[in-house]
Amino acid sequence: MSQIKKPHQLISGEKDVTSFVLRAMANTDDPRLQAIVTSLVTHLHQFVMETRPTEQEFEFGLRWLAALGQHTNESNNEVVLAADVLGISTLVDLINNDGLQGETMSALLGPFYRGDAPICAAGDCIARAGTPGPRIYFSGRVTGVDGAPIAQASLDVWQASPVGLYENQDASQPDLNLRGKFTTDREGRFAFTSVRPAGYPVPTNGPVGDLLRAQNRAPMRPAHIHFIVSAPGHKTLITQVFFDHAEALEQDVVFGAKQPLVGGFVEHRSADPAYPGAEPPFFSATYDFKLVPGTPCFPVPPITGKTR
Ligand code: BEZ
Ligand code: FE
Repeated sequence: MSQIKKPHQLISGEKDVTSFVLRAMANTDDPRLQAIVTSLVTHLHQFVMETRPTEQEFEFGLRWLAALGQHTNESNNEVVLAADVLGISTLVDLINNDGLQGETMSALLGPFYRGDAPICAAGDCIARAGTPGPRIYFSGRVTGVDGAPIAQASLDVWQASPVGLYENQDASQPDLNLRGKFTTDREGRFAFTSVRPAGYPVPTNGPVGDLLRAQNRAPMRPAHIHFIVSAPGHKTLITQVFFDHAEALEQDVVFGAKQPLVGGFVEHRSADPAYPGAEPPFFSATYDFKLVPGTPCFPVPPITGKTR
């Protein structure tokens, strides 16, 4: 007569679940994956036991997560946006880029980076096909933390328009408008012309927008220009330079604005011989980027193009 072997132990209450799950994952080969998923499960189980969701609330939460994927396509990345408005992206950014060696602080990549910006010459205007709006003349230098100029550094620049729309969100802008790649000269200098960017709301037509409305949060980002600054032998800098008033900076919906990233920004109400041909009113801005030694590493663009 065969006897059914009594199981050693089965789950008998909520207090047992975490240890069962951790035991089931104990043979993970990659130790870093093992450490991350162990910590994730431990914290998630603690969160569930603390908040004690109803089954309806659990289903609602799962539907919200699934909707993040459903609202992600080649012109919008809702998953990145969710990490941004929850402060997770800024936390990861600060853990990995503390600025303590004197380098320029980094800031979020955001969901609108495309890797295929046009290559431009010094001084070129990235506002193509007569994009309306006040002109901005932006210049600066790229140096090491020791102040030594970095020649042939690359700057990948992108920004929203004067009405606060990236080209991939706006049928009236040409493809790749307000995007360009520049290279520094022997003294590490760069220059480009553009139009003044406006602050803008992050996309609110998906599950992230539902959350922001439920929390009575304004969806606004302060006006800024994005940069990826890179050079051989240096850590790649992903950052943003801000042009906005203090209140807008404080209320950045993605917690990305940092004081050292506020740019010098001057309004010119009359012609200025230092800017030949510039039609007033226009703006000038300067910002110097400092890179630390390291290995260049480039982000995967969260979007590839536009869908209209
Ligand atoms: C951006 O600056 O492009 C951005 C960053 C985070 C969320 C949405 C937009
Ligand atoms: Fe942006």
